[in-house]
Amino acid sequence: MSSSLVKMVLFCLRPVRRYALMIKDDEDDSDDHDDSLLWSRELERHSLGDFSMAVVQANEVIEDHSEVETGKGAVFVGVYDGHGGPEASRYISDHLFAHLIRNSRERGVITEETLRGAFSATERGFLTLVRRTRGLKPLIAAAGSCCLVGVIRKGTLLIANLGDSRAVLGSMNRSNKIVAEQLTSDHNAAQEEVRQELRSLHPDDPRIVVHKQGLQRPVLSAEPCVYTRVLQTSDKFVIFASDGLWEHVSNQQAVEIVHKHPRPGIARMLVRRAMNIAAKKKGMMYDDLKKVERGVRRFFHDDITVAVIFIDNELLMVEKATVPELSIKGFSHTVGPSKFSLFFS
Ligand SMILES: *[C@@H]1O[C@H](CO)[C@@H](O)[C@H](O)[C@H]1NC(C)=O
Repeated sequence: MSSSLVKMVLFCLRPVRRYALMIKDDEDDSDDHDDSLLWSRELERHSLGDFSMAVVQANEVIEDHSEVETGKGAVFVGVYDGHGGPEASRYISDHLFAHLIRNSRERGVITEETLRGAFSATERGFLTLVRRTRGLKPLIAAAGSCCLVGVIRKGTLLIANLGDSRAVLGSMNRSNKIVAEQLTSDHNAAQEEVRQELRSLHPDDPRIVVHKQGLQRPVLSAEPCVYTRVLQTSDKFVIFASDGLWEHVSNQQAVEIVHKHPRPGIARMLVRRAMNIAAKKKGMMYDDLKKVERGVRRFFHDDITVAVIFIDNELLMVEKATVPELSIKGFSHTVGPSKFSLFFS
């Protein structure tokens, strides 16, 4: 069991800023091919169903990183919402999955424990990198990232989360209506708890909370929240997204959008919905927002990452996948082989 301390770098402490704005569920199907900051994978296969992914860039340098890894009878999703620069989220995107595969391979299973182990190994690696490079790149010490990952395998969904990204399950209830169930708790809601924890670890330093992005005291015993669910036939899809989406779209609105529209491009539709609402909040039209360049965009919305993983039930128990093992990274135009093959070999 990795009880090693998970330090501040992975932790995402941002002020709670949720808007409860109800907006008409209008169909914003305008063409957005002219939005060069919007990336998407309209619809791809994983061995248990389909998935759709989309990312919109708002920051000068994109801070959201993400990946979907497809394996035999398994799929892995990661959403890494960076802050204070892209270094932490990029590092997680480059290393966390490899750590998970290495850990899990030794034991032959992917478990809550191997997930936690992957989080702490990634964090140790990043801290080492920071120590090594901060002489040259002092700003790296201010970089952090939220980290949300999900794995579906053998009919079970595993989720680990640190920060305020969210996984939301869409399932059919007994009246055959789609209902949202949030599978993660927003870590920033527990902010006060975290502060108290920091204070008790560093009673001599009253500024510890102010120093939350510094590395002088990179100590926090907050581990990711890990959740396991045995999937039911009524569970239809899971939406993984950074808080850029959830700031503007409620859980229930999101699952209804996914449920009532065709699958291709569904992640892009969610991103666009959030941008649309963000534009309206600033008294702007979506068409004008599309022309706002990155960096300035940040005034209107955050980087937004959405991955929708459909769970096609009849495939859940199938071990022999016919889909290739691929690694698809958010905002990247190249697709590589997934390290999943190491786990299954
Ligand atoms: C199913 O969900 C709908 C919409 O949220 C709700 O009105 C209905 O009461 C629910 N039915 C059951 C059996 O829970």
